[in-house]
Amino acid sequence: MKDTYLSRGKFVPVPKFAVLGGKGIYMTTILKVENLTKVYGQGEASVTALKQVNVAFESNKITVIVGTSGSGKSTLLNLIGGLDKNATGSILLGENNLLKLGDSELARIRTRKIGFVFQFFKLIPELTAKENIILPAMIDKRKLDDTSLSELTDKLKISDRLSHYPSQLSGGQQQRVAIARAIINEPDILLCDEPTGNLDVASGKEVMELLIDSCRQMGKTVIIVTHDANIAKKADRIIRIEDGSIISDTVNE
Ligand SMILES: Nc1ncnc2c1ncn2[C@@H]1O[C@H](COP(=O)(O)OP(=O)(O)O)[C@@H](O)[C@H]1O
Ligand SMILES: [Mg+2]
Repeated sequence: MKDTYLSRGKFVPVPKFAVLGGKGIYMTTILKVENLTKVYGQGEASVTALKQVNVAFESNKITVIVGTSGSGKSTLLNLIGGLDKNATGSILLGENNLLKLGDSELARIRTRKIGFVFQFFKLIPELTAKENIILPAMIDKRKLDDTSLSELTDKLKISDRLSHYPSQLSGGQQQRVAIARAIINEPDILLCDEPTGNLDVASGKEVMELLIDSCRQMGKTVIIVTHDANIAKKADRIIRIEDGSIISDTVNE
């Protein structure tokens, strides 16, 4: 039987990674969130979106975050990804507490270490697929060799679409371009906020399989917010958030 602990009046499983760690399996924590609290607005209109959240992520693992709409999933992902730093507590990525960094330092870390995939792709319509993909590398003044670009686009099955503009691509293709763009700078961590939320079931499934397979091959740490129970099955770990708190945290067999 699984070990459980009492959380908000319910018994929930103890995160298995803690147990595995105890058995001597070596894991490295890549990201540690401590006492993270986020309040939007002020006074009577304020909303506490995250309440003293504590969670650590091991490298090379795929974690899925589930929870009802408004539970705080995007808020957590945006803070972890350095898109927002107006919160209390800490978010430790290596030596750095992301909440305490200046804007330019935060932007530098975000460009190099974190990739983001959004529900609505956020591609630039005036650029081709290839130009969209290589843009982060150009911003970071990185030299790109054609081989690594073609390996990435082969993995994501978009090599034959590189000269197309976003409007000429299907939703699934656009999202695969967005994933390539998120990975081009070889970030350690990939954050995906409902990446299949705007796709039909079939292309959502394909996008997710390609995303998970390529991230496993490349050894990325991936955190995916999703409503899709099938994706949750493929993850290493599932975290459930309700009302700004983590209410369960389980590791898949
Ligand atoms: N910019 C904002 N201003 C005010 N309240 C917000 C803002 N963004 C989110 N919220 C509120 O914070 C809570 C968590 O939102 P969010 O993190 O977007 O939830 P989820 O992604 O789980 O649907 C909700 O109550 C939402 O209304
Ligand atoms: Mg959201």
